[in-house]
Amino acid sequence: MVELAFSILASDFAHLADEVALAERGGGTIVHVDVMDGHFVPNITFGPPMVKALRPVTKLPLDCHLMIEDPDQFIPAFAEAGADMISVHQEVCRHLNRTLQHIADHKMLPGVVICPATPVEAIIEVLPMVHYVLVMSVNPGFGGQKFLPRSIERIRQLATIRDEMGLNFRIEVDGGVAHDTVASVVEAGAEMLVAGSAIFQPGKTEANAEDFLRVARA
Ligand code: DX5
Ligand code: ZN
Repeated sequence: MVELAFSILASDFAHLADEVALAERGGGTIVHVDVMDGHFVPNITFGPPMVKALRPVTKLPLDCHLMIEDPDQFIPAFAEAGADMISVHQEVCRHLNRTLQHIADHKMLPGVVICPATPVEAIIEVLPMVHYVLVMSVNPGFGGQKFLPRSIERIRQLATIRDEMGLNFRIEVDGGVAHDTVASVVEAGAEMLVAGSAIFQPGKTEANAEDFLRVARA
């Protein structure tokens, strides 16, 4: 079953609870929280206090995408704030196996993320321990970027590896996923679809989410 993980990065922060409610009413089932530190990526967003603020306003799982250096340092704070899923970048983790175990030890679902320039093979050793793999389809740091077409082949490759290894992690895709790109992404094997700018739009959020899912599930 494909799911919409709506990225609050594109929402109106001054009305966050309402924005989440609209995307949820449109059929979104995962709240995607983009955490950026101004070091790993050239942008700054928010951290555990945002997760804490979101926790009482929705029952949906909070999927925290950590685009930060040294994620280990913040895992307990995200757990405490109420995060359900945490994904960390292969590119920043010196001891990726340890970091993923750290997330699981804090009773959250561990995910690993790869940037467009990272070979899919770089995460093979940790695939048995992740709940999901996030394939970036843009370079991380900003919403509203153009989908990189090579991502399709990368999702397909990952799905093949999953079959060969007999695993059942889920495949998430993030960046430039919109009404015109979502069908090919689903066809390639992604089931957790992150979308921000394609969903959040004044007066249109609920309808955008519905339309997006209609195309994704067609
Ligand atoms: C990019 C973030 C994405 C971003 C997606 O670094 O990880 O989650 O918000 O935004 P859109 O859907 O606008 O490409
Ligand atoms: Zn993201």
